[in-house]
Amino acid sequence: MALTTVEFDYIRRLLREHAALVLEPGKEYLVESRLYPLARQEGFRSLQHLLEALRTDQRGPLHRRVVEAMTINETSFFRDARAFELLKTVVMPDIVAKRVAERCLNIWCAACSSGQEVYSIALLLREHFAGLPAWNTCLIASDISPGMLTRAREGRYTQLEVNRGLPASFLVKYFQKRGEHWQIREDVRRAVEFLDINLAGPWPPFPNLDLIFMRNVLIYFDVEVKKYILAKVRRLLRPNGYLFLGGSETTLSLDNLFEPISGGGAACYQLRDCEKKRGAAS
Ligand SMILES: C[S@@+](CC[C@H](N)C(=O)[O-])C[C@H]1O[C@@H](n2cnc3c(N)ncnc32)[C@H](O)[C@@H]1O
Repeated sequence: MALTTVEFDYIRRLLREHAALVLEPGKEYLVESRLYPLARQEGFRSLQHLLEALRTDQRGPLHRRVVEAMTINETSFFRDARAFELLKTVVMPDIVAKRVAERCLNIWCAACSSGQEVYSIALLLREHFAGLPAWNTCLIASDISPGMLTRAREGRYTQLEVNRGLPASFLVKYFQKRGEHWQIREDVRRAVEFLDINLAGPWPPFPNLDLIFMRNVLIYFDVEVKKYILAKVRRLLRPNGYLFLGGSETTLSLDNLFEPISGGGAACYQLRDCEKKRGAAS
């Protein structure tokens, strides 16, 4: 049976309350196509039975599974080549030069989905910044979806997934064939700490960060939540740190204390000078 308006609005509210996700009117088809399989998998006779259980089981694990089923997890290795080119040629050389005395580097890849993004960063560092193994490098990746985090921790990908963006030389050098899948080498996996973080909720303590990748996730939030998240990012970023957003995302008209880095069309930002000084002084 198709969703009624009341049922659709209930799911919209649930997604907003639990993950700040905005579901536009008219997306009933998306809810039906994502939640029918979940209802069956959870042993409910219909979508309506699943909704009934949600109403009686406020904030239970079923709510999380609904949020998880509704999130878009699209990702790939080296997604948006321009961003990784900028990372390799401008951003990392600058960070390395500024941090050479401390030999300490803190990176956060937020909303990492199934892990291809954080492993792309890790492999780029290994290939192009050979001195870094001697540094104290902290590479954190997070997502709201426990299922995605499990996949990311395993670092196991299908042929189709490794065909999307991963250079063949990286596949040969850093992956092992496991049956039908390719698994990224254990030493690369172990270098990443994976955390369950809802960007719209409280964040755990972080070290001050040199680099934040938060790509293709702000698009799912409303303006107020985007502003709230960017303000928190600003406080975490070191004075000379860098923030990468997705290609269709921007800080413009959300937070004017960030300024875009010119270079190759990637959505990369730094704090404005006044904000850098404040950060350096604190
Ligand atoms: C489209 S994927 C982007 C993956 C990767 N950053 C990239 O650009 O390829 C969006 C990810 O955001 C996560 N997400 C959605 N809402 C979130 C929230 N409130 N907090 C943290 N992660 C969230 C989803 O689980 C999903 O893995």
